[in-house]
Amino acid sequence: MADMTVAYSPSHGLGEEQSIWFKLTPLLNQENPMQVLMALSDKYAGVIPINLKNQRIVLLSEPEHAERVLVSNADNYTKYFDGLRPIFGRSMITIDGALWQKIRTPQQAAFHPNMFEEYFPYLMSAIDSKMARWAKFASTGETIEMVEETWTLAAEMVCKALFDREMPFNPHFVFKQVKTYTDVMNHKSIRLKNVRGELVEITGEDTAKAMEVWHSVPDMVMGANVLEHREKTLLTMLQEAEADPDFPEFDHRQVIDEMKQYLWAGTETTALTLAWSLYLLSQHPEAMERIRAEARAVCGDADPQWNQVQQLAYTRQVIQETMRLFPPIWGLIRIAAGDDDIQGHKIRAGDKVVILSYIAHHSPKFWTDPEKFDPERFAPERAKKRVKYSYLPFAAGKRACIGGALSQIENTLALVQLLRRFTPEYVGPKPAKIHATVTLCPKGGLPFRIRALS
Ligand code: HEM
Repeated sequence: MADMTVAYSPSHGLGEEQSIWFKLTPLLNQENPMQVLMALSDKYAGVIPINLKNQRIVLLSEPEHAERVLVSNADNYTKYFDGLRPIFGRSMITIDGALWQKIRTPQQAAFHPNMFEEYFPYLMSAIDSKMARWAKFASTGETIEMVEETWTLAAEMVCKALFDREMPFNPHFVFKQVKTYTDVMNHKSIRLKNVRGELVEITGEDTAKAMEVWHSVPDMVMGANVLEHREKTLLTMLQEAEADPDFPEFDHRQVIDEMKQYLWAGTETTALTLAWSLYLLSQHPEAMERIRAEARAVCGDADPQWNQVQQLAYTRQVIQETMRLFPPIWGLIRIAAGDDDIQGHKIRAGDKVVILSYIAHHSPKFWTDPEKFDPERFAPERAKKRVKYSYLPFAAGKRACIGGALSQIENTLALVQLLRRFTPEYVGPKPAKIHATVTLCPKGGLPFRIRALS
């Protein structure tokens, strides 16, 4: 379809002309970008080929497409991370093949469900800090930006639970800086520059500063107050891999890059989910009341205990329904290593394919009344009937999110605790609009006021 003519260059920056993000800008910079993609997907039967001068981008939106690219022929598709290197370095999320497997293996144990009980008090402690902050907001009545609030919560959870450290940086400042970089629509001319001895892509001084701040964060975390000197944390696992003489690839740089990955991939997504869920709940007070009632029934007036988390089923369903309506990662990008045939559509080596999770999540083929907020869709009996790969908040196959289960526990606990003490009131324009960058953000943020419950 669209014939956007650009020259090819191997150095892709996030908002540079060669980057996929730049190429998708005409589609994404719309009033309602997802509606545009859905209309195109309908028109082209789920496959939207964008033919550019030197390459093709193929947007795919059917569950069978996701199955082919992410699962049954996953080895033919490599990760696309150009432009995001300054954020993620060479962490495992960006690597493919045998090296990816080697790098992921020593970290896997940190995400085994038997670790979650150990993390539980640290998650609760981070929520306590947030509640103390919200108590102040409730007394001043000031307007707050919810994504910032939830992002700082998610970051504190990662620092405390996974790294055994106090959060040593000001997340409001740091994440604003990172957002400067990832907010791709604002960046059309990213260049390479030397920041602390590393070549990174940046747009002028502001972004250089942003990247300098970001690069300093892992060292700050490493040097922060240790909470309990726990023996087995994600951080000690990374350090053990570094010390392993049989694992030369896992050097100090790898440890730093893995930390960056967790501090971004493990926080922004979780934060967006919680912020969107509070937005949805503010529009559906009956669901908010149901969460409070569930909390009372399960925990009485006390804080939740670890063995009660599973029973907070409706709250978890709210989180799942939020990720259906607002999947933080709305598209999964891959590069085809070799030719492929996806349901009769020819994919050529070098094509970039994008699995549009958002479209499957909103398709009437898989969901009754898809635009309706209905957490009951995720009740166990109904969830069993779901079409496989029609719900992909954490992707699928071997490259699926490592932290999906953990994030749902984090957000379930956060919702229960915050809503038992406060009513967050959304005070922005309705309905909130989407800004589709690397993640699915609210356009202009999600302003809230916090009211304390008596
Ligand atoms: C609601 C919360 C979250 C969402 C929606 C989410 C979503 C995703 C998705 C879609 C991917 C795959 C990306 C792709 O294939 O291109 C991914 C990968 C990943 N996520 Fe998450 N994520 C969440 C929370 C977390 C948390 C809490 C952590 C860790 C603390 C985490 C760490 C990672 C890592 C390390 C990968 C790369 C895995 C690999 O390549 O082997 N994520 N995430």
